Formats: sequence, structure tokens, C-alpha cells
Amino acid sequence: MLANKTIVLGVTGGIAAYKAADLASKLTQAGAKVRVIMTKSALEFITPLTFEGITGNAVITDMFQTTAEHRINHVALSEVADAIVIAPATANIIAKIACGIADDMLTCTVLVTKAPIIVSPAMHANMYENSITQENIAKLKIRGFTIIEPEVGRLASGGYGVGRLPDTEVIIGTIQQVFGKNGDLKGKRIVVTAGGTREALDPVRYISNHSSGKMGYAVAEAARDRGAKVTLITTPTALAIPTGVETIKVQSAKQMRDTVVKATAKADALIMAAAVADYRPKTTAKQKIKKGAGDLTLELVKTPDIISEVKGKFLKIGFAAETQDLVANAKKKLTNKALDMIVANDVTSEGSGFGADTSKVTLINKGGKQEDLPLMTKREVADKILDRVGKLLGEKGK
Ligand code: PMT
Repeated sequence: MLANKTIVLGVTGGIAAYKAADLASKLTQAGAKVRVIMTKSALEFITPLTFEGITGNAVITDMFQTTAEHRINHVALSEVADAIVIAPATANIIAKIACGIADDMLTCTVLVTKAPIIVSPAMHANMYENSITQENIAKLKIRGFTIIEPEVGRLASGGYGVGRLPDTEVIIGTIQQVFGKNGDLKGKRIVVTAGGTREALDPVRYISNHSSGKMGYAVAEAARDRGAKVTLITTPTALAIPTGVETIKVQSAKQMRDTVVKATAKADALIMAAAVADYRPKTTAKQKIKKGAGDLTLELVKTPDIISEVKGKFLKIGFAAETQDLVANAKKKLTNKALDMIVANDVTSEGSGFGADTSKVTLINKGGKQEDLPLMTKREVADKILDRVGKLLGEKGK
């Protein structure tokens, strides 16, 4: 998604300028060509050498640099940019852009370009909340700029408030979302479930499984990056909430069922990567169960089979986590649960299944079309699934 994209990174003079080095580094590692423009004030906080080392490209700091390369870049950067990202963006640069001022390389480039522009404000809370800054941000939004809300937290001044530059992952997630706007799933509503449900025994214990949520989160991010409107219904996981994805947290199978029913009311597809408990304790003790002299027997009852129960015209894509007879068991689930497609994963195979970053799966369609995929990253698996979802939606005339 970011590979071979040219991203012009505008760095302005705030204390968070050092974080722009991490952003430049992660974008470069993801395969993007990063061209950095620094304002005069940014030079007070970080040196161009840092960005040159990270990106392998010359950094532009002065509109009147006389080398041939910089003279060309004055206009050329705005033309080759797939996106312009200003991070951190000070109140000053936001005000200048909102007024159409073009008195340095960054503001000139912004005024010339036709590429999407993403602005990540970072400043003291009072400056950010000042109505002048807010009016300027509103002006940029009206003109189609994407604004990344700053985070609340400890500020460089020692105070606490809104104004912190968000984590690099949030900025990169926003860039991917902007690139994905016109993807093949543009405007499609996709509901994804992730993680292992937790069925409470008492206030401190539950029955669950080893699902990390990685598979479901990968599907949610991939769908977002292809332009879909994604709702992620997730149990508690150690993963960061994906930027640009509506995320709803649940615990039990019953909560997941109720949330899936609501979320799919207008959906085009439901993709259930969650490992949902098939059984739950019949009763949940109100107080912590005390250790007794003898053994403890638990009575378990069935949970709702969410993907079977939920009704609608949307596509239903299930996963089958199997430890034996992979394809035969997956096909049974495909039929019994009336699915359009099932993703069969042998969770005993090396590097595949619960918690792993990779997975080896077989995709099986309702009509019986079967595709064995090699071991690949969960993100690659997600894109393979979504290739099929796009096709199936096309066939349905959606
Ligand atoms: O989260 P990770 O660590 O990345 O691991 C990924 C995964 C192994 C959990 C994932 O790839 C996977 O296989 N998820 C489905 C696991 C599972 O519950 O499989 P199942 O064979 O028990 O269920 C079949 C399908 O029915 C699944 O889509 C499941 O979400 C759904 N189901 C199951 C039970 C139930 N009560 N309601 C359901 O909707």
C-alpha cells in the first residue's frame, strides 16, 4: 500500500519534530519514497542530516537553494507527491496554509499540489484550543485536508492537555486510509470480528482460547486500506486499535452476537475471524468461587452460533480453526452455517494459527471452489480473502 508512493513529509518547528524522524523511518521501511521539507523553525529542533540518513534523499530547507536539484524540486515535489503529510504541524503553519500564504518551500508546495494533504497538529493545549487555531483547522477541513486529532497527555511545557502528536502508527494508518479511499472496496460496509470470547465463571475468571486477534485486525486494516467502511468487533487483545476503523469492544459470545446483529444491519459483508466459545458456564457466580475440599465440576451450556444466527443479505465469511481433517471439517461448517466462503486454517501447522503473524489457509467458496494458499503473513491472507469478497460482491451486483 505504501510501497513506491512518494510522500512529502513537512516538518515544522515544534518539540515533536523529533518524532517525525520515526515517521520518516517507518514510511521508508514500508517502501515509500520520503521527501522531507523542513521549515526554518524545524531546523532549531532537529537537523536535516537525520532525515537524509533515514530517507536517503536530500532534505529541502530553503526555497532559494541554488543547486539544480532544489530549483527543480520547488515545483516538482508538489507534482510527484502521492500525499503531503505535515507532522508535526504548528499553529503557525496551519494559520499560514489557511490564509494561502506561500513564503517558504513547504507552504509553496502545499499551495501548488493536487495531492491529498494530511495535517497532524501538535502544540500547547491553549494554542490548539484557541478559537483562531480552531477556525483555521476548520477552514482546512472544508478544503479537503485530512486533520489528525492531537492526543491528550503530558505536554512539553509540563502541563497536561490536548496537543500531543499521535503515535507514528496512527499517522501511518491515516495515510493508508487516505490512499485507500478509492480502493476496490470503496464505500462497502464490512463487519469484522476478532479475538477470543471470554465466558465468565465468576467476577475474576473466564473460559477463553488463545486467539490474539491478529487475523481479524489484519482483515479490518486491509479492508480499510481498500476503501471499505469497517466495523471491528473485538474482544480484549494486546493490539492497537486500528486508525480509521470503528471499533467496538465486547467480551462474551452473547455480547458479540448482539453487537454483530446491530452492526450488520447495513453491512455488505460479515467476516468472522473471532474464535467464539461454543460453550459458556451455565451460571456466573456473583462472588469469586472459593477453593473447596474436593474437585469442582462446571456445567456448560451452548453459546449462540453467531454467524449461523445472524440474518441479512450480506456475505457471510467464516473461519474454521481445525486440528484434523481440515478441508472436510471446513466444508461441513460452510454448509451447516450457510456461509458464502470459509477460510480453513490448520492451527497445528508450523507458523500458523493462534497468535502467529503468519497463517496457511485454504479458501473454500460456497460453490466448492477451493484454493490452497502457501504460508503468508496474516495481512497477505486478509488481502486474499478480500480479493474474493470484492469478486463475490461484484457477482451479487453490490
Ligand atoms: O486471532 P489469531 O491469534 O490471529 O488467530 C486467528 C484464528 C486462528 C483465531 C482465526 O484464523 C480463526 O480460525 N478463527 C475462527 C476460530 C473458530 O472459532 O473457528 P470455529 O471452527 O470454531 O468456528 C467456525 C466459524 O463460526 C468462525 O467463523 C467463528 O467465528 C464462527 N462461530 C463459532 C462459534 C460460535 N458460537 N459462533 C460463531 O459465529
